Amino acid sequence: MKTALMQLADQVLFQNYGKRDLALVRGEGAYLYDGDGKRYLDFTAGIAVCNLGHAHPGVTEVIERQARTLLHVSNLFLIEGQVALAEKLTRLADRGTGPYLAMFVNTGTEANEGALKLARRYQYVNGHPEKTRVVALPHSFHGRTMGSLSVTSNPKYREGMTPLVPGFEVADTYEGAVEMLDEQTAACIVEVVQGEAGVRPVDQDVLHRLAARAKELGALFIVDEVQTGVGRTGRFFGFEHFDLSPDIITMAKGLGNGIPTGAILAKRHVAEAFTPGMHGSTFGGNPFAMAVANYVVDVVSNPAFLERVRTVGESLRQVLEAHFEGVTGLGLMWGFDVDDAALWRQRAAERGLLVTVCGPKRIRVVPPLIVEDKHIEEFETIVKQMGRAV
Ligand SMILES: Cc1ncc(COP(=O)(O)O)c(C=O)c1O
Repeated sequence: MKTALMQLADQVLFQNYGKRDLALVRGEGAYLYDGDGKRYLDFTAGIAVCNLGHAHPGVTEVIERQARTLLHVSNLFLIEGQVALAEKLTRLADRGTGPYLAMFVNTGTEANEGALKLARRYQYVNGHPEKTRVVALPHSFHGRTMGSLSVTSNPKYREGMTPLVPGFEVADTYEGAVEMLDEQTAACIVEVVQGEAGVRPVDQDVLHRLAARAKELGALFIVDEVQTGVGRTGRFFGFEHFDLSPDIITMAKGLGNGIPTGAILAKRHVAEAFTPGMHGSTFGGNPFAMAVANYVVDVVSNPAFLERVRTVGESLRQVLEAHFEGVTGLGLMWGFDVDDAALWRQRAAERGLLVTVCGPKRIRVVPPLIVEDKHIEEFETIVKQMGRAV
């Protein structure tokens, strides 16, 4: 039965998100509430965004303070919060292989689009205009704009959108990706844990061989940390688990805890390819987003916070492995197999648990990073009632 809100939504909204029958009106910590006051344990965190949970007092205070002070001025002006955040993120990214610079955007797609442009531009200004190809991994997801879509594998998202960007190619196999890099390649782009593809960590050996081959050819190695960044895997950046040192890093999602913000980090010599006017964003890095992101990064980058994410993440892994097959992930991002993912999600919601679907038979859980043992226990109580078949 369709509610009045659902009926109106059918009339006035694009129907690009499929059926949405749950309207949430309030959140607190790891819980969300619908209009009837029903409580849901939120293991979606706004799709790996609300890392500090809902209505976090510290985030709310920063939002209130900054809203009273200054929201937006544009990048015509120097923005103190950008400098502060860039200082933090570039320090966190630097693993001793050279300093990074930062620029700020609004979304993950936009960060990737900027990174792809930067890769081509870098090759161009360094005397290699022929290096324009970009290679992506199978099962990749990098976004929905023309550039980021062109390095996204899912044929469903590409149907009717062609021609995509010439020279941007998705490999059929992980091994094949290494072999696809050649003298014409500007960059390769990877996720270290492929979230949309079912929360699957990529084989470390493949990542190392890709990075090494890229280096050998003068191509750039881009790591998309949009979902894995900001503590999601139990390290500030996912690539830290894989001992990588990317030329370009893209971020968004958890960076603003729900206030749209993203970042591109690039090694200094790469970032310098963007000279004035080459790239920009009206909203990117505005004082409001920067105030929130600075707060989030201060909390999440604390080693004790990250240690706790790893500990709670391990408890979640054990619970999942006791009840499901095909459990893969890292930190607090996990995927597992069920018989019918859409039905499983619906039944879970009826029992007060929210999860996301990432394949016809695959569920993803990405709880807020502030979840505690009691939330993992509550999760287990619900999944015990359900099993994999529902
Ligand atoms: C790895 C990755 N890259 C890029 C994106 C796109 O980010 P956004 O939806 O903020 O544009 C996503 C979103 O799910 C993602 O998971």
